Amino acid sequence: MMPFSKNGIDRGHFISFEGGEGAGKSTQVRLLSEHLAALGYKTLLTREPGGSPLGEKIRRFLLEGKVKDYGAVAESLLFYTARLDHLEKLILPNLEQGAWVLCDRFADSSRAYQGAASGVDEGVFDALDRIVVGENQPELTIIIDLPVDIAMKRVAARQQQDGLEVDRFESEDMQFHERLRAGFLKIAAANAKRCIIIDGNQSREKVAELVWQTVAERFGLEDVV
Ligand code: TYD
Repeated sequence: MMPFSKNGIDRGHFISFEGGEGAGKSTQVRLLSEHLAALGYKTLLTREPGGSPLGEKIRRFLLEGKVKDYGAVAESLLFYTARLDHLEKLILPNLEQGAWVLCDRFADSSRAYQGAASGVDEGVFDALDRIVVGENQPELTIIIDLPVDIAMKRVAARQQQDGLEVDRFESEDMQFHERLRAGFLKIAAANAKRCIIIDGNQSREKVAELVWQTVAERFGLEDVV
């Protein structure tokens, strides 16, 4: 990634968070954003699918399961359609303005959910990544890993507590979630420089501390408010 952008402002940094259902990603991405903001950094907290207005429309369509009958390749194409808009409208402009862009899921989720767990060929993602993402992969990807039985209990507890409906992917069976977990671990092994795995089966505070250590080390940050 280029250190400087056209406008002479130092380019920001792009970090994604990944993992299966119930891993605690969304909490951790928010805590990191708050930590960076407290140190005075400009941050953008965003998510996929979604982020931009068009991306959020596609998100509803996908998570309500309206594309399921068209198959996992069609779902992949829509996830990447949302990603293209998200990159163009939100992620790249914010990086050019020097922000830390923290994204709750990005392209690795397509490879894990539609690829490893749903059977779409890896070549599809190689092609879509080339067309849509190109040089704009995150500099760092934090994968929060959790055994599937623990993750499923967390999801069930959250649904009961918040009265939420089960969405398109939460409703898949245990084997799907096992393939998903293995998919993320394979992605981490194949992209060892970019990806770091953090054990999600520990307290929220401990995970947050490990996330912060990773980010501070990777980007040479000092923790002085
Ligand atoms: P979300 O409610 O954000 O789930 P979570 O809290 O687990 O992140 O819903 C996003 C869902 O979309 C989630 O089940 C993962 C799935 N997904 C894909 O299948 N492919 C993708 O490329 C992305 C970005 C998400």
